[in-house]
Amino acid sequence: MRAIRKRKGNAMDLVLKGGTIVGESGAYEGDIGVKNGSIAAICAPGSGLEGKTTIDVTGKLVLPGAIDVHVHMEIPFCGTVSSDDFTSGSIAAAFGGVTTMIDFAIQTRGEKLVEAVEKRKKIAAAKSAIDFGLHCGITDWNERTREEMKEIVDAGIPSFKLFMIYREEGWMADDGVMFECFEEAASLGATVCVHAENPYIIDVFTRRSIEAGRTDAVQQSLSRPNFSESEAVERAIYLASISGARVYIVHMSTSDAARIVEEWLACGYPAFAETCPQYLMLNNRAFEGADGHLYATCPPIRYEADCEYLWGAVADGSIQVVSTDHCSFTRKQKDLWGGDFRKIPFGLPGVETLLPLLLTHGVDAGRFSLERLVELLCANPARLFGLYPKKGVIRVGSDADLIVIDPEREMEVTPESLHMKCDYSPYDGGALRGFPDITIQRGRIIVRDGQFLGRAGDGRFLKRAAHGGNSNG
Ligand code: URP
Ligand code: ZN
Ligand code: ZN
Repeated sequence: MRAIRKRKGNAMDLVLKGGTIVGESGAYEGDIGVKNGSIAAICAPGSGLEGKTTIDVTGKLVLPGAIDVHVHMEIPFCGTVSSDDFTSGSIAAAFGGVTTMIDFAIQTRGEKLVEAVEKRKKIAAAKSAIDFGLHCGITDWNERTREEMKEIVDAGIPSFKLFMIYREEGWMADDGVMFECFEEAASLGATVCVHAENPYIIDVFTRRSIEAGRTDAVQQSLSRPNFSESEAVERAIYLASISGARVYIVHMSTSDAARIVEEWLACGYPAFAETCPQYLMLNNRAFEGADGHLYATCPPIRYEADCEYLWGAVADGSIQVVSTDHCSFTRKQKDLWGGDFRKIPFGLPGVETLLPLLLTHGVDAGRFSLERLVELLCANPARLFGLYPKKGVIRVGSDADLIVIDPEREMEVTPESLHMKCDYSPYDGGALRGFPDITIQRGRIIVRDGQFLGRAGDGRFLKRAAHGGNSNG
């Protein structure tokens, strides 16, 4: 890192000088001035802009902080609790260049949505080192729940989550629930995020695996054939289209599902989708060997052809967002499977490696541009989830959530080099570029040269706007 100059009595609190500023529509050289947590000036190089702290970032990339719209910190799930809590997960996020995350407040049976949200918000606010929002997971549909949706939207949570699976967890929404929830969401300008898999098809294939005497890890994938996702995606969007609700397919994993979303979008229907690095980077060979069970997640890791198709969809814009579905379990927790694929805690660590994976295997591999990276990880998530232009863009007036990346610096991924509370990563052994030298949240440097300088509990709850409006929080 280059020299820091400090000056007293200057207008700006912080100046990043001489970096390559990357936006979704282009990259240019310039200086960024930050005041009171917001971007206050963007000037041509050599402008003379100085701050109380001035950092020369010549030769470095300056991007908006990434937004991970799909994480599960300390979630009780599959008989255990995911290993990253809001503190460890948010610190790991900051090391990976993520400055905003959206987690889930999932209603339990009999619980009011407002109670679920308040409970989760309190935990996250006390512990998170980065700004956060919440989606509201609906699991107990009744007239009170329907009426409450407006209150949730008005409280800054304009996105709901429905699970088409997870009967045992008591989370599953049937077609009737989905249909009515879509109706209400449409009238409120809210987005419904859907985990789309068909549980009945999964039951059939699970039974077949068991009847064949197979409980090994690869059955987690084989028992959830590709069409168990694509059928559910088609059905979810079709049901949403009756009322016109905006629908967002989470962690989309198959090429067939991606084609379906593309077709609806091409007809002008507001159907959007995210995929995750695991569906781009990994394929069913991951299940080979003694560690195969570590890769179990829902939907499962698919096939080489799916990865290639999804990379194309991410590059051409037919998938709008890449998030992580970060849900980490340690090796010990994954060991709960005891040789039976039905008992593996489902989920993978990922919040820290999101941006480096996409920079290395997306941009550096020539699959898409840096601008597209910013669209996928910053601008699109902010737009789709009511945070734009407060977050996701480098613009005067926006929050000064910025990351500084040395495009030449490579880091080997090992459990020791990462900060997630997890003793493995699916990407261990690989070398990645894109881990930021500096991460800035609302003008405060929270990571610098491998040191965490932020504070647990400093992350703010973000009130988000329903679609059509701008962020108000
Ligand atoms: O296996 C996964 N993805 N675990 C997290 C819960 C979910 O379905 O997103
Ligand atoms: Zn899910
Ligand atoms: Zn998830």
